[in-house]
Amino acid sequence: MTPDRADESLEMPYPQYRCAVCGKDLPLTEARLTVTCQEHRPGRDHADYTVRPATPGDRHDIEEICDRAWGETDVDAFGRTFDVLSAENLVAERDGEFAGLVSLALDRGELALVLLSVYPGFQGSGVGSALIEAAVAAARDKGVNALKTATTNDDIPALHFYQRHGFAIYEIETGILIDHHGEAIPGFAGIPVRDEIRLRRPVCP
Ligand SMILES: CC(C)(COP(=O)(O)OP(=O)(O)OC[C@H]1O[C@@H](n2cnc3c(N)ncnc32)[C@H](O)[C@@H]1OP(=O)(O)O)[C@@H](O)C(=O)NCCC(=O)NCCS
Repeated sequence: MTPDRADESLEMPYPQYRCAVCGKDLPLTEARLTVTCQEHRPGRDHADYTVRPATPGDRHDIEEICDRAWGETDVDAFGRTFDVLSAENLVAERDGEFAGLVSLALDRGELALVLLSVYPGFQGSGVGSALIEAAVAAARDKGVNALKTATTNDDIPALHFYQRHGFAIYEIETGILIDHHGEAIPGFAGIPVRDEIRLRRPVCP
């Protein structure tokens, strides 16, 4: 176990973020936002990462990151269920260590970003951005003209991240997460999780 990966012994809910001040790993409900100037924004210097297609040997790491990010390898989005294990998976790694995953699948003529997750210890250093760029390249290779993603109303860091990367909201499925969970469970910073927010980014040929 390395310091960049969450401790296996940690109980659920798993950490999704890391405190930029003290370094504590944070489950979603314990995370809070701070607004800063550009110079003092959290995050570390960009490091060198490799983004590569997943191999059969990555299966355990993919199952683990899905478990920590979503709870299972079946992901509900855009009104259907995607199986991450049978999707096109791209892995980010640094020095041979699994840092993050983007999982892609074609859906109604567009490339859907089924799951994007970066381990807390690797966040803020450009891994998520590198995975988005790899997803855009994959969309271009497939000849599709849009990349789409879905997140939830509480996930302000993800909404920030996607809009900074050229995605725009095109649809909101209000209340669908309440239907899914049977109640509005607490998400990022304790905000009730209610709605699926769909965002799309054009891909130029
Ligand atoms: C959203 C996520 C994929 C971004 O990955 P990442 O590797 O941190 O992304 P990058 O380092 O490329 O960019 C991070 C951005 O967030 C900012 N950031 C990094 N750490 C931050 C923090 N603790 N608080 C606020 N902003 C932070 C960076 O400054 C950067 O913003 P900028 O482009 O405006 O400068 C990652 O945070 C994550 O996996 N989160 C948990 C799961 C999740 O939300 N997934 C998406 C669900 S659909």
